[in-house]
Amino acid sequence: MCSWFPAYCHRCLIRKMFVVLLVLACLTAISSADHHHHHQPCHSPNMTGLMNVITTKGETRAVGAFTYDSVGEKLRFTSNESHPTDSSRGLDLLMFFKEDIFYEIDGKTQSCTKNKLHISWHPLDIPNDAKFYTAMTMGSSSVEDERLKINVWGGDLPNTKASYWTSATMGCLPVSTFYFTDTTSFLFGLTDIEPEVKDPDLLTLPSFCHGKSVEDTPEGTVNSFVNEFM
Ligand SMILES: *[C@@H]1O[C@H](CO)[C@@H](O)[C@H](O)[C@H]1NC(C)=O
Ligand SMILES: *[C@@H]1O[C@H](CO)[C@@H](O)[C@H](O)[C@H]1NC(C)=O
Repeated sequence: MCSWFPAYCHRCLIRKMFVVLLVLACLTAISSADHHHHHQPCHSPNMTGLMNVITTKGETRAVGAFTYDSVGEKLRFTSNESHPTDSSRGLDLLMFFKEDIFYEIDGKTQSCTKNKLHISWHPLDIPNDAKFYTAMTMGSSSVEDERLKINVWGGDLPNTKASYWTSATMGCLPVSTFYFTDTTSFLFGLTDIEPEVKDPDLLTLPSFCHGKSVEDTPEGTVNSFVNEFM
């Protein structure tokens, strides 16, 4: 697989290994869940960073940049690559979670579609009803620069058969989110996060999207951030 993508090979393998390690850490955490604490779910700050979306079958569904306004609940995600299939290259999403609306943007043709959002959960969000599982230190707890302290939250999503776990730093920067149902599972790995919106224009609707009406959703289709990668 990697020989098809020599430029990406090293980077994507490292990212995958990183995310898989985090999931193993989550599994360990859950098997030793500490129920004595009653932590409130944390709320992420504004963020700019990189996100990769992989299936547990090992397919990279997307790698790209995100910008997130955590108060306005707006998210932009632009995917740069996906493989073995090229399905998400050029995927460009602008999500308005408060309005339950999202846009799929095609900058090349200056076109966009406006869609209704049915599930507002997304991998950068820790819902208010998330259950605290544990706090843990990855790396070394005794060597200052060799550790990452994380909290792990999880829960079930209403009206779906889906569950999630999210691990986040003490300052509530998400590190990885695992989303799973009986039949599918996705890992969202978040890296290179800066706790600010670096380019607010990315969260503004492009002028060519103004005045669009909401597309009809085909019967049986559920729109959510995660569904964009299925
Ligand atoms: C997307 O690809 C361009 C060109 O290869 C690169 O400069 C940029 O850093 C990439 N962005 C992300 C988020 O990987
Ligand atoms: C978060 O980003 C939005 C959009 O750029 C901005 O309006 C808001 O003031 C920021 N909030 C904080 C707490 O920085």
